[in-house]
Amino acid sequence: MKRDIIEVTDLKEAEIRFLLSRAFAIKKNPKKYSKSLSGKILAMIFHKPSTRTRVSFEAGMLQLGGEAINLTSSELQLSRGEAIKDTAKTLSGYVDAIMIRTTKDEDIFELAKWADIPVINGLSKSFHPCQALSDIFTVCEAKGLDEAGVLDFDFSTLKIVFVGDANNVSRSLLNLSTILNFKFGIAGPEEFKFSDEEILRAQEKNKNVYYSKDVNDCFFKDADFVYTDVWTSMGDEAQEEKRKRMFEKYQINEKLLSKFEKNVFVMHCLPARRGQEITDEVIDGKNSIIFEQAHNRMHFQKALLHWLLTDGK
Ligand code: CP
Ligand code: NVA
Repeated sequence: MKRDIIEVTDLKEAEIRFLLSRAFAIKKNPKKYSKSLSGKILAMIFHKPSTRTRVSFEAGMLQLGGEAINLTSSELQLSRGEAIKDTAKTLSGYVDAIMIRTTKDEDIFELAKWADIPVINGLSKSFHPCQALSDIFTVCEAKGLDEAGVLDFDFSTLKIVFVGDANNVSRSLLNLSTILNFKFGIAGPEEFKFSDEEILRAQEKNKNVYYSKDVNDCFFKDADFVYTDVWTSMGDEAQEEKRKRMFEKYQINEKLLSKFEKNVFVMHCLPARRGQEITDEVIDGKNSIIFEQAHNRMHFQKALLHWLLTDGK
């Protein structure tokens, strides 16, 4: 049966551990997998701009011996009103999987419903599963884990703090924390936080989920990783000026880093607005694993593509 990855919750804990382990294996020995997707084709549909997702998926497919076709929405009949259902049924006869970046979550649900092939969410309004999953691979790497170690690693020993907006990236990290059980704190202005219901639902699965509007809250002080993302996501531009004002005190800068008890790793999914949510000093500084994160998108997604297109063999 085909599998869709619309959110991290489409995967079970054991599957995520397997994928993380496979990502270590592929990164260490890419040659071993260089023909593993020979003859396979990934279609990539972009309704929004992308640098990392676009290039990491395409390069990943090529490195596995497969191919990728990049389709911007304006080139497709979708832009002239063709039904997603018809697009899904048509593409299912040409390619082996579809990766889509879109505005509305509903579009991905509809595509996955009608496609006979795996559909991967390359970012939607509410979710960015490939980002969160790749980021946990980066977290594991930073902690010195390897192909074997990740299979039984106790994630509850880790604390990740997200400082910023309740957006697609932080939601996928939050959801991932409910599967792997790492401690997850979120600091941001009340107006842009997850709803109480969403936090409560997460806390039912992971008691170490925590929100505070105060970035100096003591829950955050012993974090191992501090993560941020833009204050204004694609599609939220109308609120940009307001967001800049409201998020001002949530910037990741040297002063904030000095408040953490441990030598915390700094993460950002990119693209960053240097000087807004994060300073140049921090992005380029010694605590930053931000470009490792960007590069690991490809290694993790190679593991995901390999698994989806070969039944994990
Ligand atoms: N992090 C991420 O998804 O980057 P792009 O928007 O460049 O794909
Ligand atoms: N939250 C950001 C992530 C970009 C990769 C956005 O949706 O624009």
